[in-house]
Amino acid sequence: MIARNFFSSKNASSYDKIVKYTTFFKDSSWKKEMVGFMNGKNKLILDLACGTGILSSFIRYGSTESSIIGSDLTLEYLKLAKNRQTYLLLTNSLAELLPYRDDSFDVIISSYLAKYTELSSMVREHWRVLRKGGIVIIHDFTYPETALMQILWHSYFQILNQLGKVITSWRDVFSNLDKLIQANPWVNNLVRELDAIGFNSITKKYYTCGTAAIVRAIK
Ligand SMILES: C[S@@+](CC[C@H](N)C(=O)[O-])C[C@H]1O[C@@H](n2cnc3c(N)ncnc32)[C@H](O)[C@@H]1O
Repeated sequence: MIARNFFSSKNASSYDKIVKYTTFFKDSSWKKEMVGFMNGKNKLILDLACGTGILSSFIRYGSTESSIIGSDLTLEYLKLAKNRQTYLLLTNSLAELLPYRDDSFDVIISSYLAKYTELSSMVREHWRVLRKGGIVIIHDFTYPETALMQILWHSYFQILNQLGKVITSWRDVFSNLDKLIQANPWVNNLVRELDAIGFNSITKKYYTCGTAAIVRAIK
């Protein structure tokens, strides 16, 4: 699993700054958009692949009534999430095999997970642990469609590749992320899986010249 090579104790402490600067601060606006999509359905929320807890901190900022459970496969990232004191519970678990009961959550939200997962298992678990009427909100990077944006996108990743020679704790990510994103049409695959299992009101929306997307659906 490639995520195990990407995320570890060697880069956990610098993650928050890296995501902020390498996305030119767009990460915050994408996450705020996700929180806006929650429609007040915010009693029990699962932040899947919560990492260091950035997305959950935006949810907490917007609502003090919700309870958030965080889940991630990388223990070193979870330790940092714990410091935020945002969570009812944190679990070290896989998105494809969740340690939660059926019909538990009102919202399942994830940022930068879709491209790493086995989508059909992940969607099956979403369906199982989400309550009827619950919302799924999934965000990740995408490969832009227009030729101009593709040229700019590849140039940017060449710069990141060079940066990885200096910031060595991020070298593996900076030199492989572009290939991973380009090879993974997760948006359409996810929409197909969500539809096949029975989700309704499925929508997809692209951001920042097609370099990121958010998919939503209701159980
Ligand atoms: C780029 S970080 C994103 C963290 C956080 N969601 C955010 O937006 O800042 C990706 C996270 O996904 C986690 N991850 C990757 N594959 C996973 C899987 N199959 N199950 C659970 N977590 C996974 C990694 O451990 C890592 O913390």
